[in-house]
Amino acid sequence: MAQLIEKISQIQAALKSELKQASTLENLEQVRIAFLGRNGSIADLMTELKALSVEEKRVAGPKLNELKQWAQQAYDEQKYALEREAARAEQRSNKYFDVTAYKHNQFQGRLHLYTQFIAHLQDIFISMGYEIVDGPELETDYHNFKALNIPDNHPARDMHDTFWVDVPGMLLRTHTSNVQVREMEKRKPPFALASCGRVYRNEALDASHAFLFNQLELIFVDKDVSLSNLIATAKTFLQALFEKEIKVRVRPGYFPFVEPGVEIDASCPFCKHGCSICKKTGWIELLGAGLVHPNVLKCSGIDPDIYSGFALGTGLERIAMIKYGITDIRFFHSYKNEFLSQF
Ligand code: DAH
Repeated sequence: MAQLIEKISQIQAALKSELKQASTLENLEQVRIAFLGRNGSIADLMTELKALSVEEKRVAGPKLNELKQWAQQAYDEQKYALEREAARAEQRSNKYFDVTAYKHNQFQGRLHLYTQFIAHLQDIFISMGYEIVDGPELETDYHNFKALNIPDNHPARDMHDTFWVDVPGMLLRTHTSNVQVREMEKRKPPFALASCGRVYRNEALDASHAFLFNQLELIFVDKDVSLSNLIATAKTFLQALFEKEIKVRVRPGYFPFVEPGVEIDASCPFCKHGCSICKKTGWIELLGAGLVHPNVLKCSGIDPDIYSGFALGTGLERIAMIKYGITDIRFFHSYKNEFLSQF
């Protein structure tokens, strides 16, 4: 047994120095075969162990096991070190390493279509001399309806399926026209203002309706503002939006906060003789507008005998859908990368 124990420490010392000298993976493999292989020196010791008595095995067995475990670990460490060194050497020999060839396989981040489109609209309005303003989404009945010439029980309220909140007299704004009131209350004419933002209506969701959508709103108040100013402004805006020559068509329309109220259509930017977007008519209904009703001016402290103004509003998704050929309003909130990455 003493002999076996002596051999264990000899083999350990020998393996230690052989591992140290193994400078290539091929050398290391030779060392592995000689010591750890099926017919290697550690396996020989196992055979010798079998010949010992039970008492002797009890002493020599654990020592031999320790050697085996240590030998495996020492071998693994050396192998890892040699492999790493080989990889580094390979890298070093690759002198013309092309950093631009590296392609990270990930989606590139981008601004959401909403953010991009609103910024685009704001650029257009700013270029036309408008100031960008914002208004609250949680609004009073007064600013959303009453001050816009829509008293309690006015039938126009039916068109605005309103989300009322638990606080009496408060609601989620049904249109961005509340901004007109908020701004007129604190300004003196002349002013030209533009606003884009979220509005809410209790509507069933389908391809063209959502309970949360966005609108844009313009209001211009000064002395002697007329329908011709409105029409010229609408045309300028639509031409900037569609980046081409657009004709506008004005039809009578009814909105309680304007008099006269009009609807403004654009000549179809996509066809000459009728297509599916303009439903073969050559015209697309785009804007609600009109001259600000004297009651609305008066209500917010502006004298309608001195000043007049026009206002204009429309659905932001609607114009984005027409401009970009988007077929379903639900895509805006779908968070589908296939959709969003197109913009
Ligand atoms: N607020 C209207 C709506 O939600 C849109 C609108 C129509 C805005 C006429 C206006 C306007 O400023 O003059 O349907």
